[in-house]
Amino acid sequence: MTVFTSVVIGSDHAGFHLKESLKKYLESLNLKIFDVGAHSTESCDYPPIAKLVCEKVLNDSESCGILICGTGIGMSIAANRIPGIRAALCATEFQARATRNHNNANILCLGERVTGAGVAQAITELFLSSDFEGGRHQRRIDLIEN
Ligand code: RB5
Repeated sequence: MTVFTSVVIGSDHAGFHLKESLKKYLESLNLKIFDVGAHSTESCDYPPIAKLVCEKVLNDSESCGILICGTGIGMSIAANRIPGIRAALCATEFQARATRNHNNANILCLGERVTGAGVAQAITELFLSSDFEGGRHQRRIDLIEN
C-alpha cells in the first residue's frame, strides 16, 4: 500500500538506468507515473530536472518525487533550494522510513553510482508506504519553513 497516488520521477544521465529500473517497479504498484527525463545516457544537467520534478510535486499534494543522479547529492542540493520541498537522500531502508515518519519528505533522492537497483527498490518501497507521524515532527518542520 502506498501513501501517494502518483510519482514524478527524473534523473540526469548518470541516474538514467536506475530510473528505468525503478519505473518498472512503480508500474507494478498501480501508481500514476510522470517521467520528466532524462531519456538517455547522453550527458545533461541535473538542476533543471530537479526543478521540474519539484514543481510537479508541489502542484499535487498526493504525489511525491524521485530524483536520481550519480550520487544523489546534486539532486538533493538542488531540490532542497525550492520552498516546500523536503528532499531526502537515502541509501538505506531505515533512512527511507525515518525521513517519511519524521521529515515528511516529499522527494526521495537516490544515487545510481552508490545504490544498486535491488536496494533502491527496497528503499523506494519503504518511502512510498511510510507515513508522516506529525506532532513534534511537524513543529520541527515548521521551524525549518519559518
Ligand atoms: C554527473 O557526472 C554527476 O556529477 C551527477 O550525476 C551527480 O552525481 C551530481 O551530484
